Amino acid sequence: MDYNIITTKTISANGMGSLSFIEGMRDVPFEIKRIYYIHGCPKGVHRGGHAHIKLTQMLFCPYGKIEIILDDGTEKSSIILDDPRKALIIGPGLWRDMIWHKKDSVLCVAASEYYDEKDYIRDYDAFLCHVREVKRYDRVY
Ligand code: TYD
Repeated sequence: MDYNIITTKTISANGMGSLSFIEGMRDVPFEIKRIYYIHGCPKGVHRGGHAHIKLTQMLFCPYGKIEIILDDGTEKSSIILDDPRKALIIGPGLWRDMIWHKKDSVLCVAASEYYDEKDYIRDYDAFLCHVREVKRYDRVY
């Protein structure tokens, strides 16, 4: 499945917390065109429920606990973001569901493209058709 988990570089200061950083093109394998963040969610909220055609994203959770469930049309993987140093890079063509396990958890996302609703697949059956199309294309070329 087209995802990767990385540990961000982190500088810890004795008793004064930690500083983590992510550098474009060094840690993120794409040029960042957009950053967005989801905040103020109660515990138990489910978001996502879509896939992207082209978009690659890096997700991290600087505070809280969020589960990301990825689905390539054949199998599912569950990734827990509960450590500010952990970042998840998701390639295109994966269905994602996200569950807030802790109130006010913050999800930050760096994205490879500007916002474009046409890049979304929000219907699961349409997603399965898309996966089949991509596989057929990959076999031919
Ligand atoms: P969406 O990506 O569906 O969020 P989630 O999967 O977390 O529920 O986006 C929610 C709404 O926000 C939707 O109407 C599209 C809009 N939106 C933007 O206008 N710009 C953006 O950069 C993003 C990510 C979403």
